Amino acid sequence: MAFFCLTNIYAQDTAPVSIIPQPLKMETKTGEFLLPEKVVIAYDSQLKAQAEYLQEVLARSTGRVAVLKEGKDKGNIVLLRDTVAVPVAEAYTLSVTKKCAKVVAADANGAFYGIQTLLQLFPAEVYSVSWQRNTEWKAPCVEIYDAPERPWRGLMMDVARYFYDKEFIKKTIDMMGMYKLNKLQFHLIDDSGWRLEIKKYPRLTEVGAWAGPDTRRLGGYYTQDDIREMIAYAKVRGVELVPEIEFPAHILSAVVAYPWLSCTGVQHEVPTQHFISRDLLCAGKETSIEFLHNVLEETCDLFPSAYINIGGDEAVYTRWEKCPDCQALMKREGLKKASDLQGYLTNVVAEMMKKKGRTLIGWDEIIQRGKVNEQVVALSWHNPNDTLVATKTGHKAILTPASHMYLDFPEKSIPGEIQAATWCPPISLEKCYSMPINDYSESSTTIGVQACYWSDQFIHGNALQEFAPLHENRSENYAEYLLFPRLMAVSEVAWMKQSKRNWEDFRQRVGAHFARLDNKGCHYRMPEPRIVREEKNADGSITFTLTTDVPGAEIRYTTNGRYPNVHSAKYTAPITVANREDLRAIAVVSTNRYSLPLYFAPDYSAYKAYGQHVFGWEPLRIQPKPSNWRFEVTGKVSGNGAYELTVIPTRGDNSVCLGTMKLWKRNELMAEVKADKTVKAGQQPVAYRFTMEAFEAGTPFHIELEGYAPQGNDTSGMIFLRKVE
Ligand code: ACM
Ligand code: ZN
Repeated sequence: MAFFCLTNIYAQDTAPVSIIPQPLKMETKTGEFLLPEKVVIAYDSQLKAQAEYLQEVLARSTGRVAVLKEGKDKGNIVLLRDTVAVPVAEAYTLSVTKKCAKVVAADANGAFYGIQTLLQLFPAEVYSVSWQRNTEWKAPCVEIYDAPERPWRGLMMDVARYFYDKEFIKKTIDMMGMYKLNKLQFHLIDDSGWRLEIKKYPRLTEVGAWAGPDTRRLGGYYTQDDIREMIAYAKVRGVELVPEIEFPAHILSAVVAYPWLSCTGVQHEVPTQHFISRDLLCAGKETSIEFLHNVLEETCDLFPSAYINIGGDEAVYTRWEKCPDCQALMKREGLKKASDLQGYLTNVVAEMMKKKGRTLIGWDEIIQRGKVNEQVVALSWHNPNDTLVATKTGHKAILTPASHMYLDFPEKSIPGEIQAATWCPPISLEKCYSMPINDYSESSTTIGVQACYWSDQFIHGNALQEFAPLHENRSENYAEYLLFPRLMAVSEVAWMKQSKRNWEDFRQRVGAHFARLDNKGCHYRMPEPRIVREEKNADGSITFTLTTDVPGAEIRYTTNGRYPNVHSAKYTAPITVANREDLRAIAVVSTNRYSLPLYFAPDYSAYKAYGQHVFGWEPLRIQPKPSNWRFEVTGKVSGNGAYELTVIPTRGDNSVCLGTMKLWKRNELMAEVKADKTVKAGQQPVAYRFTMEAFEAGTPFHIELEGYAPQGNDTSGMIFLRKVE
């Protein structure tokens, strides 16, 4: 049955040309370029690496090993450098005729991007790592001129909270290149791991790269040879590796290796769970400055990047405020607040980096905490409008707001969605694609856009165990599932003018790319079916017309509110149901490849005053004997302050007994409220008030509540949580 044959499933690709990011100017012509049996790639001497790259890609999938010819000789694929014809950095022209495919670019990145666009014109199997002997290798004739709107098109990978090996990083770089992203911010250091070999301080990786007891030790690091290998691999693909050496916070892994780096000198352990340490790099000790100098010296020797990232986020200054060395330095320098001390440190390092001809970049705290004298680049992660602050203070900015660009948040919060970050609402593909860029003033210093992929979820321990859609628990698949297809949206947000973005058109093109991701062996989140039309009938029933954005997929559905599977009824015509919640539908590509369900969340709008729904019980979930309910409130406990938890029985004749409530941050008790009440459906709900004083973003929170029904378990009800102040 062709249906279960993965490689040909998308053969009926409807969009003939689906390039991501959408080129600036494109004209499709009649006719096709047929890749000949004997491929000759003629290339400019400075584009040898790009010619070899193309030779390798084509050899693997087409089985045709191209002859490489340096110079402007005739080839059926030609890669030229011409700064007169194409005078814009990273721009290219691509001309595909019946005889030849020709890329002209000003630089190596432009040539690489011309090649990527050409590959996107060939059938999806061109990305396969094995010979696809039955594919006809043709590309439609086109004339393209393409150039990026912004020079910084980035992705941050957090390899500190979870260590990805260099092969996975290379694969990620390859995917970035495919979508014309050009900066990989390498988050090499955090409280829970130091991942960069520094010869002068071997304990950073001997000790600081590992967490947990011997038998369950987790971690790893990149040797300097690994780094050089990744840099070379990235360079061919137009990607620059920008190292992030975090300080003064998020550096506990170094403090564990060398306790003299902190204010107190206390010996800690590398944490195995999410944790933002209060132990900063001591700003007041000469030895700290020497450490930074030596680490950055080796980092600069390794990374040719024009930028060096110093992190700088989320420092809490309680240690500095008590440290005699930090206090003495503040006095000597006439600094009023501990945050000025961070500005002082940033200036010291900016001075070091200036001597090396590098520009400092960091999270936007680096321009908000103390005055920075050199021009730096701030990553605006709090708010898209913060880029304007950077512009006003003479700095540059990159847009990476958590609300749109943090791809460690899930796409949706529907049943079965993977456990991922919750401290912001989910970021759908459409939301990511719609990120506003408000800084279009003449004087704008916003140089680009960046997505961030944080790995905190892994150290929560249980994130990967419930991941049914992939039938695998591997962290790399999890990362790709969160990154794709949203990284395509990031690519377009970064590459194109905002006014040229077109969601409907983009959605279509994304569909055509799933087959490309399959051939690349890259996981992704398959979109659930969506509603094309919803009609209310005279009898109150509703008729739904559905579609899927996955070419070649079927839709399978249920009308009893149950989770559909690959054997559920097949959608062939509009479906009528009595209530919206009765319908659930999934997109199915094969027996083990299917989407999450199209699903209608219950409507809690009548209970809005009580806050967010956090738990519901039915007769089967309430015991006659005293016992606890346990439910997640991560993301719903959203900061320090007072909260109210409200318990509302909605059905049943019997009473519910309610006892003690406990709020836990991971396994730390945060609040406890004792109670002994009984309540019935129709009576005044029971409320618990508590205060949260040690909030930590990214950390899981849950509540335990004693609830039982001694007279019999016939009750149902709901629990809501709201922040009071
Ligand atoms: C950040 O998310 N702490 C930069
Ligand atoms: Zn100190």
